[in-house]
Amino acid sequence: MRGSVTLPSGGPFASVADGGNRLRFLEEDRWISYDGDRSIAIHSPVDGSLVGLVPALSRESIDEVFKRAQEAQKGWAEAGLEERVSCLYRAADLMEKHADDFVEVLGWEIAKNRKDAREEAIRSAQYLRFTAEEGRRMHGEMMRGDAFAPFARNKVALTFRVPLGVVLAIPPFNYPVNLAVSKIAPGLISGNSVVLKPPTQGSVSGIYLTAIFQEAGLPPGVMQVVTGRGSEIGDYLTCHPLVNMITFTGSSTVGWRLGKVTGMVPMLMELGGKDAAIVLDDADMELAAKEIVGGAFAYSGQRCTAMKRVLVTEDAAWLLLKHVLPKVEKLTVGRPQDDCFVTHMINKEAADYVQELIDDALAKGAELLAGNRREGNLLWPTVIDRVTPDMRLAWEEQFGPVLPIIRVKDAEEAVQLANRSEYGLQSAIFTRNIDAALGIAHSLEVGSVQINGKSARGPDHFPFIGVKASGMGAQGVRYSIEAMTRVKAIVFNLHEWHGFSGL
Ligand code: NAP
Ligand code: G3H
Repeated sequence: MRGSVTLPSGGPFASVADGGNRLRFLEEDRWISYDGDRSIAIHSPVDGSLVGLVPALSRESIDEVFKRAQEAQKGWAEAGLEERVSCLYRAADLMEKHADDFVEVLGWEIAKNRKDAREEAIRSAQYLRFTAEEGRRMHGEMMRGDAFAPFARNKVALTFRVPLGVVLAIPPFNYPVNLAVSKIAPGLISGNSVVLKPPTQGSVSGIYLTAIFQEAGLPPGVMQVVTGRGSEIGDYLTCHPLVNMITFTGSSTVGWRLGKVTGMVPMLMELGGKDAAIVLDDADMELAAKEIVGGAFAYSGQRCTAMKRVLVTEDAAWLLLKHVLPKVEKLTVGRPQDDCFVTHMINKEAADYVQELIDDALAKGAELLAGNRREGNLLWPTVIDRVTPDMRLAWEEQFGPVLPIIRVKDAEEAVQLANRSEYGLQSAIFTRNIDAALGIAHSLEVGSVQINGKSARGPDHFPFIGVKASGMGAQGVRYSIEAMTRVKAIVFNLHEWHGFSGL
């Protein structure tokens, strides 16, 4: 078994909670489970080499993890805000200290280039610190009864935010660290315990991350990791009676399933997208092209917020493309270890699916302007013009390095096509006309609209919302904390009280 990643020995990674996670670190730089749980081999999308072994936890092991999480949660909630803040700060420092390790692991495990992998680690550290501070700033309310009716003037309510209990956090493969931290941090600061179920292709990163939290001094059981294939253990996890809240990021297909099977458990869901860039005739075409190319091809288009279609008028299309195509030609393609911009897709099936969409569009008369070259699961950045509504590429989420251009009559048709999508994550509008931008922004059925910029989740304290098939609930540091707590009211019935003076 060749380790394409040399897991760092010593430091936090050597001390992953054997007591807390049933995982331990072996001398040959491999993760392995206790007690005969089966293991899953994680192979690199870059060259097929073995990245590591992770356990496929049995139901009994999962039961134990949740039991420990439930037991640990009460003590954590009572530990006091300052202790929780300090743990998050220590985890942030460790994330930065071990950023190079994350670069290695993310590069081999999910083919993320060095620059993006480092940013993911640093962004996660920043997320932890901001969440710690936001935790300090969260507060309840005092409410007076007579604001509703005079008879209630002797009543005063104090509201608090209390933790939900055990939070199950399920991130996707494309940000196995940052989209885990954006669930773990708000969960922990609120006094919940967290069980992380990383994506299978991303489990090694998830285990590394768990090691960081444990090194940061979290009490045993407060933050644990369970690994195994979603198709095998997904339902068991999400329907587990000890789970009090689920925060999920992934495909709309799995999101629908969670909605059906989980019953009354509170849930946050960030799902798929088909973000449209609407380019009006008066746009700054150089700026629009730069944003669209970056937005479409970063991490090989495997981002929920990738620019997944361009809606542009016939008149403006040639000018936009004049700026787009040279930028696409300049994108580097190859290994993440060489910091190429476009790298290997996560697996062969994902690459096959993208190829299917390209082939369908070209067979139906779309025009290939760049790309459509492939070596295994490495796809070259592809631009396809004159995509029409009868083509699958107009509607299906490609999640790969393909930019479809759809020509429209006018802005009205652009809005109509944008809204015909089953998805509603984000959209971008490029124009110099602020009135037009605002009008169009209001008509778009999405969670956020970017004016003169590509779709993006960050900065991570901004609200991030998907509507329609793109999600449920709002994320973003404060919004996530709110979602992982509930309001509790304590009402004072004051019998000697004659009410407030003033307001
Ligand atoms: P996915 O296949 O839906 O998997 C997401 C996570 O769910 C993984 O951890 C997966 O584990 C787990 N899972 C699979 N089946 C499950 C089940 N029945 N019950 C519970 N968990 C289950 O998505 P992906 O391929 O990793 O990610 C790509 C998708 O995520 C795209 O559609 C993208 O748009 C979306 N995404 C959305 C956002 C957003 O913020 N809106 C952000 C990033 C990605 P396994 O790996 O073990 O199957
Ligand atoms: O893949 C979905 C991520 O939430 C996108 O985040 O816009 O910061 O790349 P990003």
